[in-house]
Amino acid sequence: MNTKLTNGELWYDTEGNILHAHGGHMLKWGDNWYWYGENRTENRYVSVYRSADLLNWTFCNHVLTTESPTAEHRVRTDRKLRSEKGGKINVERPKVLYNRKIGKFVMWMHVENGVDYNDAACGIAVCDTPDGDFTYLGCFNPFGYMSRDCTLFEDKDGSAYFISASRDNADLHVYRLTDDYLNADCLVHKLWQGEYREAPAVMERAGKYYMFSSFCTGWAPNQCRYACADSMEGRWSTLTDIGDSTTYRTQPAFILPVEKEGKTVYYYVADRWNGKDYHDSRYVILPLGFTEDGRPVMEYTDTFQGL
Ligand code: GLA
Repeated sequence: MNTKLTNGELWYDTEGNILHAHGGHMLKWGDNWYWYGENRTENRYVSVYRSADLLNWTFCNHVLTTESPTAEHRVRTDRKLRSEKGGKINVERPKVLYNRKIGKFVMWMHVENGVDYNDAACGIAVCDTPDGDFTYLGCFNPFGYMSRDCTLFEDKDGSAYFISASRDNADLHVYRLTDDYLNADCLVHKLWQGEYREAPAVMERAGKYYMFSSFCTGWAPNQCRYACADSMEGRWSTLTDIGDSTTYRTQPAFILPVEKEGKTVYYYVADRWNGKDYHDSRYVILPLGFTEDGRPVMEYTDTFQGL
C-alpha cells in the first residue's frame, strides 16, 4: 500500500506496472476517482485507473486503443484509429466528463494523424460506464479551427466547456459544449491571442474561475501562468506567473478539487515529461494555496499525501 507518492519518481499501479496516465484528467464517480490519461504503449491510446485514496491506483482498462469500436456521429468526423501508414495516430490530453442528459461518459481529446501535427483536431469518444471500452466518434476541427492542447471543464450548472489551443497554438479558444457534450455549441472566447498558451487546466473556487496554462515549448517545461474570471463566459484577466520559471519542471495536466475535512482543497496535477523517452515521463502533484484575496499560490512539496 502506498502511504504517499513521491513527485517525479516512477509511479506504479496496484499490480506493480508503470502507471500510464499522461496528460490526463480525473473524474470522481461514486467513491472512486478515475484517472484517465495517455498510454502510448503497444496498441493503446487512453488507459484508466481507479483509486479511493488517490495514492493506490488499480488499473481498470485500456479504454481507447487502435481496436476500439467506432460509430457514426451527427458531426462529420474522421474515425480512423490508425495512420495512413498503418501505424498509430496521436491521441493526447484525454479528458472525461459524465453527461447526465444522455447518461454517458464523454471523452474529448487532441488527435493528430500519426504522421505529422497538421490535423490539429479534437476527438470524441463515449461509454456507458467510466471504465468500459469507449466508442470512438471520430475527430474534427471545431468550426474549422485548429485544436491542439485541450481540457474540459464542467460548471456547477452542468454546462461544460472545451478549451483548446488554436491557430498553431497562438490563441486559446473556449467552446461551450452542447447539452449532450457531443459537439461544440459556440465559440465563446479567443483568449490571449498570440501569447501561445498550451496545457490549459480550469478550476472554480468561491465563484471565481481560474485557468492555468503553460507557454509553448514542446516537452520542455516553462513558466506556468494563470488568469481569473467571474464566469467561464465572462472577461478573463491577463496572465500572471505562478510557481518558478519551469513550474518545478512540469506542465499542467488538470486541477484536482478534493473534499477534505469539510473543505475543498485543490491540487495542481502535472506531467514531468521526458522528451527523450516519453514512456519515462513522470507526474507531480502539488497543493494549490489561496491568499485571502483569492490569488493562487503554488509550492513545491516532495510528496503527495493523498486524502
Ligand atoms: C506539449 C504539449 C503536449 C504534446 C507535446 C508534443 O508539451 O503540451 O501535449 O503535444 O508538446 O511536443
